[in-house]
Amino acid sequence: MQGTDLDVKDREKILQAVNEGKRIRFITYSLTDTMERQLDFVIAAILKKHEHPSLQSTLYSCLKELVVNATKANAKRVFFEELKLDINDPGEYRTGMEKLKGNISEKWIREYGDKAKARGLETSITFDHTDDGLRILVLNDTDLIGADENRIREKLAEGMSYDDLLSFYMANGDQTEGEGMGLVMNLLLMKGEEIDPALFRIGNVEGKTMGRIEIPFSERFESVRGKDPRGWRDRPADETVNLNFTSDPS
Ligand SMILES: Nc1ncnc2c1ncn2[C@@H]1O[C@H](COP(=O)(O)OP(=O)(O)O)[C@@H](O)[C@H]1O
Ligand SMILES: [Mg+2]
Repeated sequence: MQGTDLDVKDREKILQAVNEGKRIRFITYSLTDTMERQLDFVIAAILKKHEHPSLQSTLYSCLKELVVNATKANAKRVFFEELKLDINDPGEYRTGMEKLKGNISEKWIREYGDKAKARGLETSITFDHTDDGLRILVLNDTDLIGADENRIREKLAEGMSYDDLLSFYMANGDQTEGEGMGLVMNLLLMKGEEIDPALFRIGNVEGKTMGRIEIPFSERFESVRGKDPRGWRDRPADETVNLNFTSDPS
């Protein structure tokens, strides 16, 4: 199992929850090293239990991208609020982004992660799994703004026409300068594992942004799309193991 030689916070609690088939939820405000190791470990434990260890690196890369996006979006919201700029106004958005450029560093991420926490802007990461499949949900307290949503849809649609990451980068790498590449990377990573790209979703849910990855382990797996779009909420709260996480590095 990946990560076994590293010190993982709440390791026993995580293992026990995974083995009992419980839902696991983390709350975070920025992606710290400790958190990264925990996420890697949860994925490894779940994939081991359900005998799909080969998906480790793909799943971990996809999840990390979603968590970075989510925590960054919350931090960005605080930054805009401080400057009294309206993030939904295209002109003010540009002004804010100009100021943000070159400002983003490890220190900025920690500082604004702490501010997001003080402001109650969370990122939650939820793992639900059975022998039939795994569902990972990342939610953050920031709307996906309209312009971004359209840009993402366009990018993802474009990404769909490529078979692998390399050909996408060859065609787009130089002009997009990394912007908006993360989600396309996720899509193509999933495609590379022959997982239906429709099982990777981004959207708005009640004022939050949601990123969702579903991985079938058996033919019986049912996606939350269509028939039961809210199925993930119906589980009783006492079946959830909450691992509240703050940005302190303990
Ligand atoms: N969880 C999220 N909440 C709010 N906005 C988001 C979220 N995820 C992505 N976005 C928006 O969508 C854009 C595209 O995301 P992505 O493809 O990961 O590119 P990048 O992170 O390189 O900008 C981001 O720049 C951001 O503006
Ligand atoms: Mg990104």
